[in-house]
Amino acid sequence: MTKVKPFLTEEQIAHKVKELAAEINKDFGAEHFIAIGILKGAFMFFADLIRHIKAPLSIDFIVSSSYVDTSTSGEVTIHSDIRADIAGKNVLLIEDIIDTGISLNKIRERILQKSPRALKTCVLLDKKERRIVDVPVEYTGFVIPDEFVIGYGVDYNDSYRNLPYIGILKH
Ligand code: IMP
Ligand code: MG
Repeated sequence: MTKVKPFLTEEQIAHKVKELAAEINKDFGAEHFIAIGILKGAFMFFADLIRHIKAPLSIDFIVSSSYVDTSTSGEVTIHSDIRADIAGKNVLLIEDIIDTGISLNKIRERILQKSPRALKTCVLLDKKERRIVDVPVEYTGFVIPDEFVIGYGVDYNDSYRNLPYIGILKH
């Protein structure tokens, strides 16, 4: 039977999101940037985070997938790319979770090919001990253990994304 063990509460997440936004506000100041969310997982985090950003910004999204069931397939598929012209612009990439680093690395490289002025990355959850590819991440919410998490946008086979908290999925 599948069970969800509560892990991070709505309050803990909201507090962390504000802290991350404060760091981003400090670094970016009033300078315009483009916030790029990686869908689908980052949609909730993205929406909450940018509500606390003071700089003028535009938004765009990349739709990608790599997970099948509870393990990364290693194959990163880009289903839809950004439409914005980011050449010479400051970009903040926003992702739900970094695990092996394969997905984020591939997406970062794809964005860098479009010659942004600067690229910074913000992730809510980091499974640090699982890293295979070293990816620079400037803003990290929670470093978490090697457990399969769901909720707050993060899924298991596209379910659980609507949970307002983050839980650990136990089979
Ligand atoms: P990576 O390429 O191994 O770093 O995997 C990153 C992607 O896998 C994230 O964007 C998530 O969509 C997904 N992912 C990694 N860990 C989890 C998890 O615990 N639950 C749900 N999705 C996960
Ligand atoms: Mg993701």
